[in-house]
Amino acid sequence: MIYFIDGELIAEHGEAKVYLYDGFLHLEIGPGHNLWMVESEIEELSQQIGDLPRGNCLEIGLGLGVASKYILSFPEVTKLTTVEINPDVIAVHQMVNYIDDARHKGINGNGLDFILQTEEKYDFIFFDHYSIIDEDTLEILEVYVNAAKKILNKGGTILAWFDPYTPKEDASKFFDILNVDLDTYNRLQSYYN
Ligand SMILES: C[S@@+](CC[C@H](N)C(=O)[O-])C[C@H]1O[C@@H](n2cnc3c(N)ncnc32)[C@H](O)[C@@H]1O
Repeated sequence: MIYFIDGELIAEHGEAKVYLYDGFLHLEIGPGHNLWMVESEIEELSQQIGDLPRGNCLEIGLGLGVASKYILSFPEVTKLTTVEINPDVIAVHQMVNYIDDARHKGINGNGLDFILQTEEKYDFIFFDHYSIIDEDTLEILEVYVNAAKKILNKGGTILAWFDPYTPKEDASKFFDILNVDLDTYNRLQSYYN
């Protein structure tokens, strides 16, 4: 069974399409059925993010807004800014998973540009703007993380989605870049065999 054959196309805008398949939303971007997000990843995302979100939060990559909703589920979160580069993704997200929460602010733009320009400081910063973790992703992630450190409040956390299929060598670079504490490291590692 394949989501784009057996599923139902429920939203489309420019190069973004959302299918409903097997009870879950599937986000495809661009030609060639590039699957960027499946709603069922909420389990993985929530276990990775844990109960870290609080205060002023920043997220790079909206996708289906699954992580956004999870972050906003914490009453300790006073504000969440989500930066998404692709206007088509924002459009389909609003059609299928609109978030009605006064604490949520959506921005259309490049995550790095936003980080370099913002005058705000954040308590929790979450990166999920890539679909795999490879050499190229790691190179860019390192730049993002270093820039993010400058807008992080004392005691705040920088986290990024960990793909459990990451090859060992790249996974260890990923953990080095994030410089996560032991608890978070163990939680992320539990996905990785
Ligand atoms: C894997 S999806 C995010 C999934 C999301 N965490 C969720 O829960 O649904 C990655 C998203 O990041 C966006 N993106 C890619 N590069 C970006 C950038 N430089 N700045 C902001 N968003 C970016 C993509 O358009 C895509 O919507």
